[in-house]
Amino acid sequence: MARQRIVVLSGAGVSAESGLGTFRDSGGLWEQHRIEDVATPEAWATDPEHVLRFYDMRREQTLKAVPNAAHRAIAALEQAFEVDVVTQNIDDLHERAGSSRVMHLHGEILKARSTKDPDLIVPLNGPSLRWGDRCPLGSQLRPHIVWFGEAVPLIPEAAALVAGADRLVVVGTSLQVYPAAGLVHYLPQERSLWVIDPHPVPLQGPHVHTIRSKASEGMPRLASAWLQEVSA
Ligand code: APR
Repeated sequence: MARQRIVVLSGAGVSAESGLGTFRDSGGLWEQHRIEDVATPEAWATDPEHVLRFYDMRREQTLKAVPNAAHRAIAALEQAFEVDVVTQNIDDLHERAGSSRVMHLHGEILKARSTKDPDLIVPLNGPSLRWGDRCPLGSQLRPHIVWFGEAVPLIPEAAALVAGADRLVVVGTSLQVYPAAGLVHYLPQERSLWVIDPHPVPLQGPHVHTIRSKASEGMPRLASAWLQEVSA
């Protein structure tokens, strides 16, 4: 029998227990920075070195962090399911936990991108990206991050994954940031949707199951129930 398809839509809450702070739980500030000053094209145009320092700091945090039980449980689902992780997170903790298909909607902190050709993406070998670091075409490199006010190019591909899912798990995201938040609406109506979050998330319906817990507790519970279900 064909393996069922699971899509996991993850957000900052999944990495919170690895020590990477969520943004909206900290009063709308990221490590004391306003979004407008560090995560917008305008910030980059006004003070690129400040923006680079902010992402250097987040890159250092990412490099020190390790995957937690939620990342590992998501990876374990691959034992019996076709799993696609669609994450809003820019860290690489899903990959390090062993997930093989991870789509980063909002970019990746461990990569840089040419300011001349957005398709020219290079891995970053160290924690810092500096003003003056150039792409092979000779233009400044920027963090490979989708900033507020920029298009999210992977949305159509992500929507197609959700539309083809047998089950959708929404974990650790407040669903406040569009267009990512709108992805849940691509799930066919009769398919089940599980929400794992310690706080209320605005999703309702006959096929919505809510697990009010931390990702590191709720995700392993759900994954082991599903793995048992298919091995029974
Ligand atoms: N386990 C599960 N969920 C948690 C945990 C935890 N341990 N701790 C916090 N959460 C939940 C919060 O209750 C909240 O619903 O994680 C969610 C985090 O929400 P946001 O901070 O809004 O993060 P996210 O939804 O990923 O944000 C989307 O906005 O910050 C920008 O571009 C950034 O990709 C990010 C996007």
